[in-house]
Amino acid sequence: MRPKIILDCDPGHDDAIALLLAHGNPGVDLVAVTTVVGNSSLPNVTRNALAIATVAGITGVPFAAGCDRPLLGHGETAPGIHGESGLDGPALPPASFDLDGRHAVDLIIDTVLAADPGTVTLVPVGGLTNIALAARKEPRIVERVREVVLMGGAYGPGNLTPTAEFNIAIDPEAAQIVFAQDWPVTMVGLDVTHRALADRAVQERIAALGTAPARFVLDMLEFYGGAYRDTQDFPSPPVHDACAVAYVIDRAVLQVQRAPIDVELTGTLTRGMTVVDLRPFVLADEEALTSCTTSVATGIDAPRLWDLLVDALERIGDSRP
Ligand code: BDR
Ligand code: CA
Repeated sequence: MRPKIILDCDPGHDDAIALLLAHGNPGVDLVAVTTVVGNSSLPNVTRNALAIATVAGITGVPFAAGCDRPLLGHGETAPGIHGESGLDGPALPPASFDLDGRHAVDLIIDTVLAADPGTVTLVPVGGLTNIALAARKEPRIVERVREVVLMGGAYGPGNLTPTAEFNIAIDPEAAQIVFAQDWPVTMVGLDVTHRALADRAVQERIAALGTAPARFVLDMLEFYGGAYRDTQDFPSPPVHDACAVAYVIDRAVLQVQRAPIDVELTGTLTRGMTVVDLRPFVLADEEALTSCTTSVATGIDAPRLWDLLVDALERIGDSRP
């Protein structure tokens, strides 16, 4: 059976591409979209999510707004990468439908409980505030969820700080809750997302589609690529969040290794770091690893990712009237 996906996101250019991939690929069933503060304020990322839905012709999927701040503190946004709107670059069309009346946390809980056990995959691609609160508010979702495939973290260098990746660093307590639950969690971190850059060849394939959603993606990549070039010296932009969705669609997109993962909360230099235990003797202990619920992505087949994205955009076609 096709996995049902709840995409919890903070659009965000790469979130938008993840949403287009989840909508356009026939191998997964997008059952809900929830938003969380992150790349920009909650009102901004929620408006952006609805604009992407309009561009892609998404209908019949509930969208709900979630937390406007992390569990602790005030959080951080990313205008340097995603612009003041959270999705600078393309013109954003108005929403074509209303938000679901529920808080995102309740939409997540209701959706998981209403579905058959083991059928819903959570794909968080922003800070983990909504997901942590859902697990705390209704712990029964933990055993009913099929798996959690999240974009966030790194076992190598971070991006917000030397050791911490943005999605984990903006709400480390929430991330620690999510990694500690007894559900399978796969961490798709910078270690792999930085190895799939939407270069000129990828952009030419998207341009060749000639559709409005394809042009929207190109407009996003122009702004986002410029930001990555100016701030981090990247030749082309990574599409982080799409890598997590792609893995749910096709296991062959990522190489994944089971490994213990925890989140640093107290380090003066390392708060928000994902501590992945990749010591060889730990990885060699197969018996101990069978009870380990966390896995980490260590490799990526980038051409496979781009084929999935181009295929999804082709299927979406020119969906707007
Ligand atoms: C993550 O941070 C956000 O800016 C992106 O949308 C992605 O989810 C990458 O560190
Ligand atoms: Ca994101």
